Parts: sequence; C-alpha cells; structure tokens
Amino acid sequence: MAWDERQRAMLAEMGVRLWPPTPSGPQGAAVPVDLGQAPGPPSGKGGGEARASQPSEVVAAPGPHATGVEAMDWPGLRAAVAGCTACGLCRGRTNTVFGVGHERAHWMIVGEAPGEQEDRQGEPFVGKAGQLLDNMLRALGLSRDAQAVGGDPARQVFIVNVLKCRPPGNRNPQPEEVARCEPFLQRQVALVQPKLILAMGRFAVQSLLQSQEAIGRLRGRVHRYQGVPTVVTYHPAYLLRNPADKARGWDDLCLAREAMERAGST
Ligand code: URA
Repeated sequence: MAWDERQRAMLAEMGVRLWPPTPSGPQGAAVPVDLGQAPGPPSGKGGGEARASQPSEVVAAPGPHATGVEAMDWPGLRAAVAGCTACGLCRGRTNTVFGVGHERAHWMIVGEAPGEQEDRQGEPFVGKAGQLLDNMLRALGLSRDAQAVGGDPARQVFIVNVLKCRPPGNRNPQPEEVARCEPFLQRQVALVQPKLILAMGRFAVQSLLQSQEAIGRLRGRVHRYQGVPTVVTYHPAYLLRNPADKARGWDDLCLAREAMERAGST
C-alpha cells in the first residue's frame, strides 16, 4: 500500500511513525510500522479469522423498548432512541446520541458512550477522542462527512456508541444499561449492513462479542458480529492516554482495511 503526503500527515498526527521514513518504500508492500515499543501480541497480518463465543445470537435483556426494535426502520428507530426511558440515564441527558454517518456506510465504528460534549451536541465523538478518531479515519481515506469523500459509501463510516445516553460524570456503562440499549445497536447494524465493524474499547468489544477478554487478547484477529467481520481495537481516549499504543492501533486499522478488502470493498 502506498501512502501519499496527506496520509503521511495524518499518520504523523496520530503519532504513528512509518518505516522507512521516506516514500521510497516498495509500492504495494504492507505498511511497516515502527512499533518502537515493547512487543505486543501478533498483528493481524496473516491472523486467522476467529468466531466470538456468541457472536450473532446476542439477546438483550428485554427493556421496555426492546419489543419491536428489531423491525424498526430508520425514522422509527431514531424516534425510539430519542424517547427512550429504559434506564435511568435518560434523567441526566441533554440529548440522546443516535449516531452519525451514511446509513449504508461500508464501515461501522462502535464506541462506548457519549461524553459531555457529545451529550451537548447530540453527535458521537466530537471531543478530543473524536478528533483522534477522525484523524485515524482520514489516514484510511474514510470520513463521517459525505462531502469529504465525494459521497462514496465505501469511504464513509457510520459512528455509533453502545450507549445512546451519557453516563453521569463519564463513569463506565453499567451492564444493565448496556443490556437495555443493546437492541438499538443491533438494529443499527442490521439497517446499515456494514461490510466491517471496528469495535473501539472495552465496552464496545464486550457488547458486540459478548466476551470479557482483554482487548490485547482479542485484537489481531477478525471476529464476527451478526455475520459482519469485526475488528477490535483500542478506544481513542485510551490512545490519547497511552500514546505508546498508537502503533498497535494503527496495526488494527491495517487489519480492518485488509478485512474490508477481502469483504469486497476498499
Ligand atoms: N467516547 C465514546 O466512546 N463515544 C463518544 O461518542 C465519545 C467519546
């Protein structure tokens, strides 16, 4: 894969160093990333495709809004999320955060829960973690913004969170909240029909793959959620706190891109 100036600038912004540092590397070769840190688990290259323990038969604890969610269209689903009172989080929210992007985007990004800014604006990943996410996406030639990629769904993402409401004080999502919100995420995946899901962070991974395993043990392979190839990676907020792991995050994006290419889209 060859990298142009724009992608190199984005990777630099992500804190990922390419090796060799000049564009003279072999065209079409896999991007050698200077990890520069302690060795981690093997990257996705050549990694086998694994099936999560219960990948597609995820049955949510039926909350008040679970019934019928599986048959909703986009307007119905948006209205159901906007009016949801299935868990206590509705009491502290300013806005629900449904998700953003092309409704048939090839890429689906799943994060954790809205933070303060997302709650205020009603859009996922608009804070610092969101800026890093946007840079990571740009490095792959992707965007949440249709105009930025000429309206091509293959280069667009649909960004969602496991929880649609902000947990108070940005605390971790509780299992009950995740279970109540899960039907919405399941329906979003069913409607978007992405070719690839990128699960970012512990709660996205736990919710999608129904696994309690650490991210470090789940990354580097392609899992499946509702039959969709699913790649696990670190949450951008974690990468901001642990920049040494950005190179691993980049490895995960490369694996996702490879999986997407295998799925017939670039
Ligand atoms: N972190 C998330 O997981 N989602 C957001 O929308 C913002 C921060």
